[in-house]
Amino acid sequence: MTGHLQRVLLLIGSPRGSQSTSASLGSYLLSEMEKQGAETGVINLYQYMKSDVGRNDLMDAVNQADILVFVSPLYIDCLPAPVIAALEMIRDRRMVAQPPWRQRLIALVNSGFPEPEQNTTALAIYKQFAKEAEFGWAGGLAFAPGAVINGKPLGDAGFVARNARKSLEIAAGALARGGPVPSGAVKLADKPLVPIWMFLLNANRSWKHQVKDPAVWKEMEKRPFRKTN
Ligand SMILES: Cc1cc2nc3c(=O)[nH]c(=O)nc-3n(C[C@H](O)[C@H](O)[C@H](O)COP(=O)(O)O)c2cc1C
Repeated sequence: MTGHLQRVLLLIGSPRGSQSTSASLGSYLLSEMEKQGAETGVINLYQYMKSDVGRNDLMDAVNQADILVFVSPLYIDCLPAPVIAALEMIRDRRMVAQPPWRQRLIALVNSGFPEPEQNTTALAIYKQFAKEAEFGWAGGLAFAPGAVINGKPLGDAGFVARNARKSLEIAAGALARGGPVPSGAVKLADKPLVPIWMFLLNANRSWKHQVKDPAVWKEMEKRPFRKTN
């Protein structure tokens, strides 16, 4: 979209807010879009969904944007409840009134487990939302495992975040040209940030370490759903 200053709104859907991996990924995309001349804004969905004033402000911000960037963690193969509530609210209000220009949406999801396909359902929810709320679907990116980034700014996250950075750079370029997220960006995002064997080694080590705490061990022994009779 040459000659038009794009307004990009980042909607962070993690309770960890600016400390989250969601924020790391979203902020990196935003800074790349700023390089392309975009004007940007950030909203913390958890915060804004708490009150009527917040929900109205959220809607005002959505109505001023050209591109919405939704970014959230994966929770139980799905999206966090306040994110779903926000999607439903935005859809319902847009059925009453919406800006006359075409608005587009891109979704980023990050998960704890290392397989990118864990995020398929969550991305499908965003795609369905785009359809129902009448946004142009610009595509989705799944980053796994987000825990490796753990809220660090992507620029400081070193080698492990190289594919994530590259993916977001490609996505930003495509969005600035008015196109959807190219498959090259999707493939780079899909690459595990660390090899799966390394992830499992570290994850197992960490679980075993946590279990050394007697309080945790006691919980481990509990079998609340086991029938006793
Ligand atoms: C309540 C809860 C549920 C989660 N469910 C999943 C899940 O189903 N699959 C998965 O891969 N990771 C799951 N995770 C891990 C998060 O997706 C992961 O830690 C993510 O990087 C957090 O991102 P954030 O920093 O943006 O909040 C879950 C985490 C929490 C707290």
